[in-house]
Amino acid sequence: MNTPRKKAKIHLVEESSSGNHKGVNPLQKQREQLPIARGKDALVREIRDNDVIILLGETGSGKTTQVPQYILESGMAGSGMIAVTQPRRVAATSLAARVAAEQNVSVGSLVGYSVRFDEACSADTRIKYVSDGMLVRELLSDPLLSRYSVIVVDEAHERTLRTDFLIANLKTIQAKRNTSNDIKGKRPAPELNPLKIVIMSATLDAEKFSRFYNNARVLYVKGRQHPVQTFHTAASQTDYVDAALRTFFQIHTDKPPGDVLIFLPGQEDIESLDKSIKMYARRLPEERMSVLVCLMYAALPPTQQARIFSPTPPGTRKCILATNIAETSITIPGIKYVIDTGKCKEKRYLSKDTGGGFDTLLTRDITKSSAMQRAGRAGREGPGFCFRLYTEDAFSSMAASAEPEIRRCSLTQSLLQLKCLGQDLEAVDFMDRPDVEAIYSALKTLWLLGALDNAKSLTVLGRQMASFPVEPYLARIILASGEHGCASEVIDIVSLISSSSKLFVDISEQRDAISDARRKFRHPSGDHMTMLNALRSYQNVAAAESKIGRKEWCRQHFINERTFVEALKIRDQLRLTCGRLGVDWRSTRADNEEPVLRCFVAGLVQQSAFLQPDGSYKQIIGQSVVKIHPGSTLCEKKVPAIIYDELVYTTQIYARGVSSVPKSFFTAATPPSGS
Ligand code: CDP
Ligand code: MG
Repeated sequence: MNTPRKKAKIHLVEESSSGNHKGVNPLQKQREQLPIARGKDALVREIRDNDVIILLGETGSGKTTQVPQYILESGMAGSGMIAVTQPRRVAATSLAARVAAEQNVSVGSLVGYSVRFDEACSADTRIKYVSDGMLVRELLSDPLLSRYSVIVVDEAHERTLRTDFLIANLKTIQAKRNTSNDIKGKRPAPELNPLKIVIMSATLDAEKFSRFYNNARVLYVKGRQHPVQTFHTAASQTDYVDAALRTFFQIHTDKPPGDVLIFLPGQEDIESLDKSIKMYARRLPEERMSVLVCLMYAALPPTQQARIFSPTPPGTRKCILATNIAETSITIPGIKYVIDTGKCKEKRYLSKDTGGGFDTLLTRDITKSSAMQRAGRAGREGPGFCFRLYTEDAFSSMAASAEPEIRRCSLTQSLLQLKCLGQDLEAVDFMDRPDVEAIYSALKTLWLLGALDNAKSLTVLGRQMASFPVEPYLARIILASGEHGCASEVIDIVSLISSSSKLFVDISEQRDAISDARRKFRHPSGDHMTMLNALRSYQNVAAAESKIGRKEWCRQHFINERTFVEALKIRDQLRLTCGRLGVDWRSTRADNEEPVLRCFVAGLVQQSAFLQPDGSYKQIIGQSVVKIHPGSTLCEKKVPAIIYDELVYTTQIYARGVSSVPKSFFTAATPPSGS
């Protein structure tokens, strides 16, 4: 630890040994036992002495929960706040809860969080766990992020588009804030307090971050990693959910106690495996350990998150079904067995196929780096086992690590945000540069939406669009509703679309029953108005029925109640933004779908298709032939033109969330040429 040279990698701590702990609070004792605790003083000194620190450390060593507390306790943040960014909102909320508990305060006081559509902060908040997207949003109103004296960019290895956006902008913000203080040579004005940046990552690829920040110091926390015995399947598996089910029960019947963590690509697979495990667990002989299944995915309500971290009851084996969120951002104690399906969902922009404008989630093979992180989760507290549901050859042919999002996702929203900051995408100093084609496509989308004029300059409409916490195309739909006097209906529908889970449950085997159950909501124009009808009915039921009655009503109609609950929260936020922009969110054209659909056409210009003579639908912008999804109310219908919320790729390209609109609406929807 002595006088380390610039750029040298320093080992802050060696393998931690258990010490004597006098603390009475069990959480304090746990804090002191974390691998990072022994390097606390050195770490604080390094952060104090350097403007930028890159901190690497194995998952579970205590980076995310401890570093912000160390900074706070050292007093170096002064009167400013400490922001800790997370790529995932669930991670931000659950970490804030943990750190608040460690500080013995309630969430929203000293320790808070801010994620899209949800915030728990107050004037007392000093440590704020924030989704990377929310901090980008804060930049728009406070371009120097002057409320913060330290910004911790966590999970930087994930290289999300928004994290990369922040990393690029923080470099220039720091140059402005820290140099102008030097020039003044006196106490800085409060809005120009110097900024410290800590970049944290769970993988060892630190050079790139260090180089980007002018060879910033790299610190290394050694974690506790016990050996993990890894097994591969002899043959490749076609049904990974079924393979995971069988592997789980093999472990459960043959292996000693220890919790199991199963990695699956997404919520649907998690929910289906949850059902099967519970069904088979009920048939186990009485004398067997019982099984407690817990779920962890992005849309999981906060009330259910706590179960994952609570100690496993005696005589029970906990089985956690998680997405790649449990790879590095959340460490779950007690795991001895990992089952890795080898799959994840990845956001990807399919410009050539779709005509551009938006991302799709695709299930794909994970990378070697993910596979190793997943295996590592089994060895946190003792020797563990990892069962890979793929062959050793499949592992060998995996890509080393994922491509940064900036190279594979839609840049539309980021481009709009940069325009609001007076920057051009082409000119920003990013760690990895985006593709020229992707930039072009984002420019085109924003022009089609009327956010940019012919000279690529931001329009008044574009600036208004950026104020909404939703994708630009959805913001465009809301803004159109101001002109058409139907904001009330449009905001309701946009809120339902923006919710993290789908409103209508779609089970392919039960489509006839589902269609019958929902007949009374069905609107001839298609899914958008049908969703609105469902929401209206639900609100009537909610006013008259008990909680159980509401639940039963949702079950009977194959509806996710969670979507309604979330949508109503989102609606409040969207109304608030409308209020700020002078858009009357109360305006309504009761039961007239025409103006509502006109608004959707304004935003879904790139998500629209015309009927062809052969009965197929071809995109208006873009080359793909799309089919209406079998779960849609318009399935099998032949109408002259459709608009849709998204495309899903299975054996074919399906449009989901579909409405029928007159062809004539499209000529009226050409973009304005000026501001
Ligand atoms: O960021 P890093 O992966 O280095 O570790 P961390 O997230 O700070 O977690 C440190 C420890 O806190 C781990 O052992 C977690 O199991 C524990 N933790 C917990 O018990 N409950 C939470 N909600 C969050 C963390
Ligand atoms: Mg962490």
